[in-house]
Amino acid sequence: MEVIINSDARVASERAARVVARLVREKPDAVLGLATGSTPLMLYEELIRLHAQEGLDFSRVTSFNLDEYVGLDSDHKWSYNHFMWDKFFSRININPDNVNIPDGMVTDIPAYCDAYERQIAQSGGVDLQILGIGADGHIGFNEPTSSFASRTRIKTLTRRTVADNACFFDDDEAIVPRHCITMGIGTIMESRTILLLAFGENKADAIAATVEGPVAAMVPASILQHHADAKIILDESASARLQLAAYYRWVYEGKPEWQQDA
Ligand code: GLP
Repeated sequence: MEVIINSDARVASERAARVVARLVREKPDAVLGLATGSTPLMLYEELIRLHAQEGLDFSRVTSFNLDEYVGLDSDHKWSYNHFMWDKFFSRININPDNVNIPDGMVTDIPAYCDAYERQIAQSGGVDLQILGIGADGHIGFNEPTSSFASRTRIKTLTRRTVADNACFFDDDEAIVPRHCITMGIGTIMESRTILLLAFGENKADAIAATVEGPVAAMVPASILQHHADAKIILDESASARLQLAAYYRWVYEGKPEWQQDA
């Protein structure tokens, strides 16, 4: 794991955007794994800026989103599908045929999830997966005790995640869906590179457990310790409980310039 501590969320997001942009420039038909939530918003804004001002070209990029709520139509204002089009896809030149987001309205969920896995494989696999993290350490919607071998499937949210995500549902926990479709942890771990972003003190415990705790199903993100190319991009407050924070800074400051956006 490479832990990169930044002065604030904007600097962190710009750094993450440079990693995405470099991949897309080097491999124009790259496959991106994308996340929702408040954390990647500034990253998407920066990629939109790079598209508008520097011509960053997404026309051949394929995307796979991590997850979607079961029971929300793709047009629903609270669906992740709507979120992605509103916040990102409508403002870059991605080909809509290349956008893949789980469909929360399908009737045969297991068959649909198997097909989603096949689509990822047929695309050549995810080159770069963007992740946020839940306050309980979840990635995608893989809640604590999710199997590290899990594939795309239906999951039930924890009460804490329902409460945390109520801010996207007019602050009304009662209308947050209880079920979701999410890529599995096994699916996520097959991505060639992973960028996990975490901002704010609300994430500090989850980040400390992820980076420095034991690998345990109670902290799903801790499996990233077993990934060969996982970068953990933090702001100061999300890094506040890391024992080796000074070491991570020292490592980063000592990197040769050519490695600094990697
Ligand atoms: C949801 C999403 C996750 C996201 C998490 C954190 O549970 N399914 O992908 O990482 O929320 O959200 P936020 O970035 O808003 O803190």
